Amino acid sequence: MRKKTREISQIFLNFFHKKKHKIIEGSSLLPYNDPTLLFTNAGMNQFKEYFLGHRKSPFPRITTIQKCIRVGGKHNDLQNVGFTNRHHTFFEMLGNFSFGDYFKKEAISFAWELLTEKFNLEKKKIFVTVYHTDKETYDIWYKDISLNKKNIIIIGDKNNIDYNSDNFWQMSDTGPCGPSTEIFYDLGSHLKGNILHNFGDRFIEIWNIVFIQFNKDFSGNLIPLSIKSVDTGMGLERISSVLEKVDSNYEITFFKELIEDISIFIKNRHVTHNSFKVIADHIRASIYLISEGVLPSNESRGYVLRRIIRRAINHGKILGEKKLFFYKLVKIYIKHINNIEKINLCKKYKFIKRIIKKEEEHFNIILEKGTILLNKEIKKLKTKNLPGEKIFYLYDTFGLSLSLIKDICMQKNINCDIQEFEKYMEIQKQKSKNNSVFNKKINIYYKNKISKFYGYTNFSIKSTVLDIYYNGSLVKKIKKGDKAEIILDITSFYGEAGGQIGDTGFLEKDKDNIFQVNNTKIKGNLIIHIGEMILGSLEINDALYSNINVSRRFKITRNHTATHLLHASLRQEFGTLIKQKGSLITEHYLRFDFSYQESLLLNDIFKIEKIVNNYIFQNISIKIYEKIKKEIKKEDNIISLHHNKYDDIVKIVDIKNISRELCCGTHVNSTNQIGFFMITKFLNIANGVKRIHAVTHNLALEYIQKKNNQIKIITNLFKTDEDKIIESIILYKKKNNILLNNIKELEKYILLKERKILLRDNIIINNINLIISRIYNFNPKLLHHIIKNLVNKFEKTIIVLSTKWEKKIFLIIKITKNISNFISAIEIISNNFDKNICKIGGCASIAQINTDINKDKYLFNLSKIRTFILNKINKSN
Ligand code: ALA
Repeated sequence: MRKKTREISQIFLNFFHKKKHKIIEGSSLLPYNDPTLLFTNAGMNQFKEYFLGHRKSPFPRITTIQKCIRVGGKHNDLQNVGFTNRHHTFFEMLGNFSFGDYFKKEAISFAWELLTEKFNLEKKKIFVTVYHTDKETYDIWYKDISLNKKNIIIIGDKNNIDYNSDNFWQMSDTGPCGPSTEIFYDLGSHLKGNILHNFGDRFIEIWNIVFIQFNKDFSGNLIPLSIKSVDTGMGLERISSVLEKVDSNYEITFFKELIEDISIFIKNRHVTHNSFKVIADHIRASIYLISEGVLPSNESRGYVLRRIIRRAINHGKILGEKKLFFYKLVKIYIKHINNIEKINLCKKYKFIKRIIKKEEEHFNIILEKGTILLNKEIKKLKTKNLPGEKIFYLYDTFGLSLSLIKDICMQKNINCDIQEFEKYMEIQKQKSKNNSVFNKKINIYYKNKISKFYGYTNFSIKSTVLDIYYNGSLVKKIKKGDKAEIILDITSFYGEAGGQIGDTGFLEKDKDNIFQVNNTKIKGNLIIHIGEMILGSLEINDALYSNINVSRRFKITRNHTATHLLHASLRQEFGTLIKQKGSLITEHYLRFDFSYQESLLLNDIFKIEKIVNNYIFQNISIKIYEKIKKEIKKEDNIISLHHNKYDDIVKIVDIKNISRELCCGTHVNSTNQIGFFMITKFLNIANGVKRIHAVTHNLALEYIQKKNNQIKIITNLFKTDEDKIIESIILYKKKNNILLNNIKELEKYILLKERKILLRDNIIINNINLIISRIYNFNPKLLHHIIKNLVNKFEKTIIVLSTKWEKKIFLIIKITKNISNFISAIEIISNNFDKNICKIGGCASIAQINTDINKDKYLFNLSKIRTFILNKINKSN
């Protein structure tokens, strides 16, 4: 019997539930606190810490359906989407996981049982691959499952590099990994394909079972893990295509119906065209990304979303759609999904539609500009070849698709240098790969040690040194002057997290042995004190006091609670669609980024300041308590930026009736400790993302005092009262405008007058008008006006004018082009003045020079120039 997508996922979950797996929700598409990943790319991501043994999973067996994005980073399918039967940017992955519980034998038996007994797949059509050194897995398939030998394919390493194999899976360049066994299904001989050589559509990979055993570090070392685990992933769209008995993921009922509706909407009924696959896939990815708060931008995740939307729009154009269309597909997509998802997306429908519409409009303008630019580039070409660099520029900056560029070029008989273009693409790919992985030293600290933070209320506690890192290596001892990183068993230092910066202070063994902490960071389970030994020495196992800079901590703490109040006030004023996009909490100020599409006016800022300050004045007490994460209910209304993190126990910061947030930062006991709150800046930092800077307590007072002082100074300058300062400035501006107009009139008058005088001094030699003159105290800008005016009057002219203006001497020479064959302006200047004394610039027809007033005589010696010019004119005869 044919089965549809939702039915299939339900069978999967039920099956593993019966096998004692806990059913857990998939995580967000945006991994929390994992710099090695741009997007969630597999079901196992959210369990990384469990696989690494950094935390114990509350359940030894888990099963999930996980939404995944594979664009950017290690697994990147964007360019393939639309042109194969299998690739997606967004897809759902069914997975079962064991954390130190069952291993190879059970994992394989479960898979076999589900495929053959629940999904009723034909046994002889099932093929598997096994990593070449993994004899155990081979034997399980061959002996325990009794799979035919010819159905077991052994896959080796590529390029003779260990574990460089399709049967060795890793989630990103670093992290949990291990050999895998992949399960394929034979769709039939009407299709071509070969598993070993990895080509064709005949054999479809439906399930990957990974035996997680290592942690790969940044140097590529595989560090064996303390527990052996299982991570599996089955692409829901792929298994659906097998069970629906169709050859392509895009032919399963869900996609078939979606593509049908899109095709009706854009009035192109050629439904098998690849561009439909692109559009159907991309609208899906765009909707889910935006629903999780990603907005189109030029960076990181936003950039990926932008590329997805633009790629889809370009494919719309290929299908002949000229109008804005992509944003209208949001509605069509939502029509096709199941109820729970539908409810979720319907809530965000307007928002998602508006974001896509904005991006579509923006892109259309850019496309227009890009096309004009491309035509200009083509015009400029000296050969019939458009260089790859130019193509890349138009592609990368303006989003012009390669096919559009090729089309336009073809019409004009211009060849595109695609090879060179590919080189630029490769460089870009490399760049984005390098960008996605940062903080490369992180793995040094992956030891099985734990340091604990006791510093919510203890600002000085007795601790023991666990590890000392000096120059990236573990050492036993450091001495005065050494810059090092120290790990303690317990500490009062807060490590940078959740936007709050790390503490500073001192680690004091005694008064002669002191380490100064300049920053504190968290890596894995460890809190790292970064700083310098300023007195004596320190050794592993030494006991010391960890003393934080308490007054700095208080300032940071006030700003942290104020950030929660700001967040709550923004949501109160502008609605709960406001999403926090980032924050920075320091001792000097707080910074809060959030998504909001409308513009913020000064009045809005005043309102927000008022709400926050009212909360402060009401002196509301703040409670911080722990809760078991899975017991948190929707109606608790807890804002959770960490919503995909399976911490068993989480901290909740509860500001009564105002805000409840999951947060591990430090907070004041009651709001009045914040004192006072002022917004100092508000900016637009990206399309739809706003940034607010604010200060609290004494710094807010200082801010107001500084502004007050500025007003006082202005008041004094205008010799008026504070209440009348605005009127005075308006009046001053009016007067100023009148004066400027008067000056203009006077200048006109002077111009006319000077012009008359100059014309009177005009001499004609060999048909050439020669005007050489100096005008005292004349704005050099006006000299240009006079010159323009005089040049128009004569056919052949040489004009030399000089003036004194604001402690400088200026000289300008203008020569009409028709005599530039024997005399040039720059030549006159270079022959008569010394470059070392004057600033010279110009060309054959116009040149100018200026120097300080004390070189007065030197520059005003116009007789030398006159002789030079007359000689030239005579010689030309
Ligand atoms: N994590 C493995 C994969 O994504 C199962 O293929």
